Amino acid sequence: MEKRVEKLDDFGRGIIRIDNKVCFVKNALKDEVVDVQVTSNKKNFMTGSLSKIIKESPERITPKCKYYDMCGGCNLSHMTFNEENNFKVEKVKNIFKKFAGLNIDINKINYKDEYNYRNKIVLRVKDNKLCLLEENSNNTTNIDECLLVNDKINEVIIKLKEVVKDENEIDKIMIRYSNYSNDVMIKVDGKVKNIDSFKNICSSLIINNKVISNEFLICSILDKKFYVSSESFFQVNYDVVDMLYKKIIDFVKENKSKKVLDLYCGVGSIGICISDYVDKVFGVEVVEDAIKSANKNKELNNVDNINFKCGKVEDVINKDNVGYDTIIVDPPRSGVDKKAIGVLNNSNANLIIYVSCDPITLARDVKLLSNYQVKEVELFNMFPRTYHCESVCILERR
Ligand SMILES: C[S@@+](CC[C@H](N)C(=O)[O-])C[C@H]1O[C@@H](n2cnc3c(N)ncnc32)[C@H](O)[C@@H]1O
Repeated sequence: MEKRVEKLDDFGRGIIRIDNKVCFVKNALKDEVVDVQVTSNKKNFMTGSLSKIIKESPERITPKCKYYDMCGGCNLSHMTFNEENNFKVEKVKNIFKKFAGLNIDINKINYKDEYNYRNKIVLRVKDNKLCLLEENSNNTTNIDECLLVNDKINEVIIKLKEVVKDENEIDKIMIRYSNYSNDVMIKVDGKVKNIDSFKNICSSLIINNKVISNEFLICSILDKKFYVSSESFFQVNYDVVDMLYKKIIDFVKENKSKKVLDLYCGVGSIGICISDYVDKVFGVEVVEDAIKSANKNKELNNVDNINFKCGKVEDVINKDNVGYDTIIVDPPRSGVDKKAIGVLNNSNANLIIYVSCDPITLARDVKLLSNYQVKEVELFNMFPRTYHCESVCILERR
């Protein structure tokens, strides 16, 4: 069956129509003419796999990764990087239209390296081999490198491959790389036979939440340094996070912000990076470990105009404590809690800077923040070769 691919869905799958029903086809590109084998036929949609490309898109390239077909971690690798960036801009625009009823302009998508950008990877160990969990499944793919991660992490993976040959009861290994010290942290979940073999290949080792050596890694963003523990969230792409934080600083300066709320603050990185330009910052974060790091980071950077509180944003903020002129939110994929949205919507802030790793929850929340209007949306391709995209949405009080 010869079909033309109309467009891509939010996951980068090609959309064709069969008997007026939408069919999602993995790895198909816009405007390609394809032959498809239907793999499932549900009430409202079908899925299919590419049997043959009859007319190929000029944006099609051969994926660099040898595990591309199995793992799914870099599932946009079959399109040029330029096309990927265009796809992300269109995707976010469509999502704003669909979920917020807004036609927005996106002037810019910021990006740096296509590959070797990630500073963190989580590997599984199965049958004494290192694996990645396949997308949306419990299946694993054995790997001996990952093109998305930093070279230093790949060097560690080569060494770890040997180490796990003698280990039978390890489930998971997290590796994190520091751009400040060039050091590596390893966190192991499971029972370790030979601790020294891990100790020898990293500067910070944590086994089942027990610190064996060095609890923290020091990483940097712009001109600041941050202690990062194994349990704390830290942005995965050092180059792009510099661009993102620079943008936040520009807005804070332009707005002449004085009192800033940094919600979902993690290890305090946004608050500390803007602290030179404002009078006061208050950060809120639920993970105790991250708040511990945030307080150490305040000292590490000699910052005295920032305070942190550990707790859920929705429990900490209320109408009595939102006397801030600028509110920065950087929630997880699930977005901002409904109760917190209500407080933000009725706050005195003239500016909300919403940093988001999921455009759908961003658009949903923007719609709920009805006392604010979108001033600007800029994208940051923090996760090249994947369908994920980071956005910054600047909202002004109406
Ligand atoms: C996307 S990260 C952003 C962290 C930080 N702003 C940064 O740039 O590194 C989201 C953070 O929100 C925290 N978090 C999740 N749910 C929360 C809640 N209900 N209240 C407070 N913090 C929460 C997570 O632990 C995580 O550190």
